[in-house]
Amino acid sequence: MLQQINLAGTFTFRGSSLTVNRMGYGAMQLAGKDGDKLVWGPPRDVDGANALLREAVASGVNHIDTADFYGPHVTNQIIRKALSPYPDDLVIVTKIGARRGPHGSWIPAISPEDLTAAAHDNLRNLGLDVLDVVNLRLPGIHEPAEGSIEAPLTVLADLQQKGLVLHIGLSNVTHTQVKEARQIAPIVCVQNHYNLAHRADDDLVADLATDGIAYVPFFPLGGFTPLQSSTLSDVAAQLGATPMQVALAWLLQRSPNILVIPGTSSLNHFRENLRAATLEIPAEMLAQLDSIQ
Ligand SMILES: NC(=O)c1ccc[n+]([C@@H]2O[C@H](COP(=O)([O-])OP(=O)(O)OC[C@H]3O[C@@H](n4cnc5c(N)ncnc54)[C@H](OP(=O)(O)O)[C@@H]3O)[C@@H](O)[C@H]2O)c1
Repeated sequence: MLQQINLAGTFTFRGSSLTVNRMGYGAMQLAGKDGDKLVWGPPRDVDGANALLREAVASGVNHIDTADFYGPHVTNQIIRKALSPYPDDLVIVTKIGARRGPHGSWIPAISPEDLTAAAHDNLRNLGLDVLDVVNLRLPGIHEPAEGSIEAPLTVLADLQQKGLVLHIGLSNVTHTQVKEARQIAPIVCVQNHYNLAHRADDDLVADLATDGIAYVPFFPLGGFTPLQSSTLSDVAAQLGATPMQVALAWLLQRSPNILVIPGTSSLNHFRENLRAATLEIPAEMLAQLDSIQ
């Protein structure tokens, strides 16, 4: 299995000693669901969640994306229970900038007090002294909104100065905000909504690649409603692969700075997604896939 993941290659976060396999795992889907409240409460199958995380790491996944507002607290606590003491090469990337309302809503939380409390929640629930990478998650469910991010980013930079955070990333940001942020602190990754059918960040991906900054798409498979497209299904059938594998392989081929973090609560889906690391999409099929956007 280690060979499988190696085919997708590795990426070293800019200015750091942290190297990850480009095929990672997004832990959000591990939290439960309660009626309309998504990513809420404990998972239906706690043992299954533990088993999935352990198999992910055994398979070579060393980049796990999480947040303390998944559950809330649940996902981080599952990660700690399943994986602590953590392998030396595991990079856990978390995010701060939101909290959950009593009815499952997602509430922006970017005041100094909120951000500081969120960093400490992550440290406590993950059982860590220092967080490897923390993304400042800016408000907006799926799309960023323009506006200065200097104030909240300065708080995160202060947490870094205090030694609680090793590296800083951004999530749900515009190109302009990335430029502003880079004047304030070194940025190692950007996590925005991006996939085969949602390509507003094409130019941003290219610019970040030039500067060695990772681009980590959220909703790489389309999110809560996975991608559906006859073109995607046709290409998958021709390659003897599944549509989800093609969607991930497309991202891996799109740019060397793209790191994928597909989310799943299913061990079978995890295994299927991992095999995308071995899939090569020929140029003529890449052109067909371009028509999906
Ligand atoms: N920064 C942000 O604002 C933000 C926002 C959203 C997500 N994220 C991060 O990005 C990660 C990825 O996003 P995501 O999990 O929301 O969406 P995603 O990876 O695009 O898709 C997850 C959905 O696809 C399904 N799925 C996964 N593999 C599948 C397969 N092989 N076949 C069929 N269905 C499959 C999952 O259901 P099953 O569980 O049934 O497999 C789930 O419903 C998250 O886990 C989280 O860490 C960040």
